Amino acid sequence: MNILVTGGAGYIGSHICIELIQAGHEIIIVDNFINSNMEVINRMQAITKKKITCLSVDISLKEDLEKVFQNYSIDSVIHLAGSKSVPESLLNPIKYYLQNLVSTIQLVELMNKYKVRQFVFSSSATVYGTPEQCPIPETASLNTTNPYGTTKLAVEKFLYEFAQSNQSFSIVSLRYFNPIGAHESGMIGEDPFSIPNNLMPYITQVATGKLPYLNIYGNDYPTLDGTGIRDYIHVVDLAKGHVKALESLKGKNGWKVFNLGTGEGYSVLQVVKTFEYVSGIPIKYHISDRREGDVAISYADATKAKQQLDWVAEKTLEDMCRDAWRWQRNNPNGYKVRNLEENQLLYITDL
Ligand SMILES: NC(=O)c1ccc[n+]([C@@H]2O[C@H](COP(=O)([O-])OP(=O)(O)OC[C@H]3O[C@@H](n4cnc5c(N)ncnc54)[C@H](O)[C@@H]3O)[C@@H](O)[C@H]2O)c1
Repeated sequence: MNILVTGGAGYIGSHICIELIQAGHEIIIVDNFINSNMEVINRMQAITKKKITCLSVDISLKEDLEKVFQNYSIDSVIHLAGSKSVPESLLNPIKYYLQNLVSTIQLVELMNKYKVRQFVFSSSATVYGTPEQCPIPETASLNTTNPYGTTKLAVEKFLYEFAQSNQSFSIVSLRYFNPIGAHESGMIGEDPFSIPNNLMPYITQVATGKLPYLNIYGNDYPTLDGTGIRDYIHVVDLAKGHVKALESLKGKNGWKVFNLGTGEGYSVLQVVKTFEYVSGIPIKYHISDRREGDVAISYADATKAKQQLDWVAEKTLEDMCRDAWRWQRNNPNGYKVRNLEENQLLYITDL
């Protein structure tokens, strides 16, 4: 299958592309590198030993994106490109509605025009807002608490209604829980441009000495040790879930939604202790006040993906910590090289 992967140079997208290639698919990446580094393409080529087609395209520019559909034969789309910072979305909701919602509608419009009818969308557990139950099934009530989450939910609703109106489409929304870890080669991983928002890159940067200590927001939650509990999932397991989801679309129509999580929750302190155990490095931390909007406990009911996609997360928290540490230790400054070798990247003007 020829698969267009938007945001394929990003943290999750790069791991998905590797799994797709290893499963025998052809991929075309479009990314504007606003939150990724071109060096990742070199690394992906080294891991897969395949030449990767990567186009520098801002998906919000519809005419540019249309050229991709005109020039390549595409069977399906996995859509990850977008903005993902909750705090930024609170400050700049217009950016989030344009980047995440409007761009996705334009993408689906082009898919419709060019008769590309299989679509996998990166959604998030954030659509559950403050969960009323744990584990959280896909049928749980949806209530978002910030513009980022609202745009994910709005896209899901749009996709559902679009699939109702256009029966030839087959669409799946995947609600990710908390992806962490890195490819076991240690060659690709999460490389935040500034101070990390997420727990694992923060821990690994404390371990290398780049950051002085970890802030733990709240130790008075009703959990085993007072710190918040989340469903951490290895990014490679998450990536494999996309391959299964994509393969499940063949010959089907309509819209479906799946949680991608392990179904198990770990506290922030459990993650810290596990990281210390696998790396042998003590992690300094300070306890701060709770962050507004953070929930005490969130973990998935992952039964539906197991039953309908034949997918389960296989990697343990130790695997996640070990692989995240290998990536950070091998690449203390992330991808560092900020330019792809000449002739590797295609620009829209080349088409
Ligand atoms: N990382 C998480 O914890 C998490 C959790 C749930 C859902 N998600 C969703 O998964 C997707 C991927 O997340 P990620 O963590 O890999 O983020 P990321 O920022 O590493 O990847 C996103 C990629 O999209 C690209 N991009 C952004 N805007 C673009 C545009 N207008 N045109 C072309 N490319 C553009 C970025 O350069 C980047 O390479 C996002 O949609 C995110 O909302 C992530």
